[in-house]
Amino acid sequence: MATTPQLRAGEDYKKIFDGKVYADTLFNQIEVEGFTFTEFRLKTLHNIFSKGTIKGKFLLEIGSGPCIHTVIPAAKWFDEIIMTDYSPSNRDMQEKWLKKDAGAHNWDMYFKYYSKLDGNEDNWQQLEAALRPKIKRVLSCDVHLPNPLDPIKLEQVDVICTSACLESACPDKDSYHIAMKNVVSLLKPGGKLILIGILNCTHYTVGSERFQCVSLTRDDVISTVKMNDLKIIEIFDDDSSLDMDAAPFNGSVIILAEKTST
Ligand SMILES: C[S@@+](CC[C@H](N)C(=O)[O-])C[C@H]1O[C@@H](n2cnc3c(N)ncnc32)[C@H](O)[C@@H]1O
Repeated sequence: MATTPQLRAGEDYKKIFDGKVYADTLFNQIEVEGFTFTEFRLKTLHNIFSKGTIKGKFLLEIGSGPCIHTVIPAAKWFDEIIMTDYSPSNRDMQEKWLKKDAGAHNWDMYFKYYSKLDGNEDNWQQLEAALRPKIKRVLSCDVHLPNPLDPIKLEQVDVICTSACLESACPDKDSYHIAMKNVVSLLKPGGKLILIGILNCTHYTVGSERFQCVSLTRDDVISTVKMNDLKIIEIFDDDSSLDMDAAPFNGSVIILAEKTST
């Protein structure tokens, strides 16, 4: 009889999460017929950043995983981009990409996709060259801490981007609310949050390990944003779903919001 794999969470991200396998599984293709999820993310982020109104000194990426695709279109608008993750394996993947290490994930197709959206397909290597020096730090982060970057005390940042992190880090909706509050504490008043949320997802699989998620509806995400002193500027929806055991989910949402309090 088949047994259901143990659901991993919390400290398991430190011990067994394999950032290389995660990147190889989910980030080796962009255009998949009938599945718009990845293209939706890239097109929406390009749309948000290409206007040139979301900019500043610091962009903080919370729970980046081994990924850099969320910050490619942001590079020219910030003095410094800071990548963060709870898992050492993911931070190691970030460092490998920065050092052009042989074990780094290959993000070329993402640079090519964004440069095509820019209308300048031949420019992709310049996009890549522009991003590396902007990522000056890869920090440890735990969204369950009041200061997720503890022991580092960073001045409040202009923009925070976070993708599929809070729903993966949290066992339930109450902890999701508190984790968002902790993350938003790192944002300056008037600063912007770009939240990429995966909907109706209970778990996802990395290699042979299955990681738990809190299952959220679109309304759950929107109401949690509003309860955390954020004014919603724009909501982008995608109805892509996947019913494979690798990552069963149904829909995703990207919210651009502004912090209204201190
Ligand atoms: C589904 S992955 C998302 C990775 C990437 N942002 C993306 O869009 O593909 C979830 C991420 O949340 C991170 N994570 C899990 N628990 C965390 C915590 N307590 N604090 C910060 N990040 C955490 C994991 O290490 C992992 O990188």
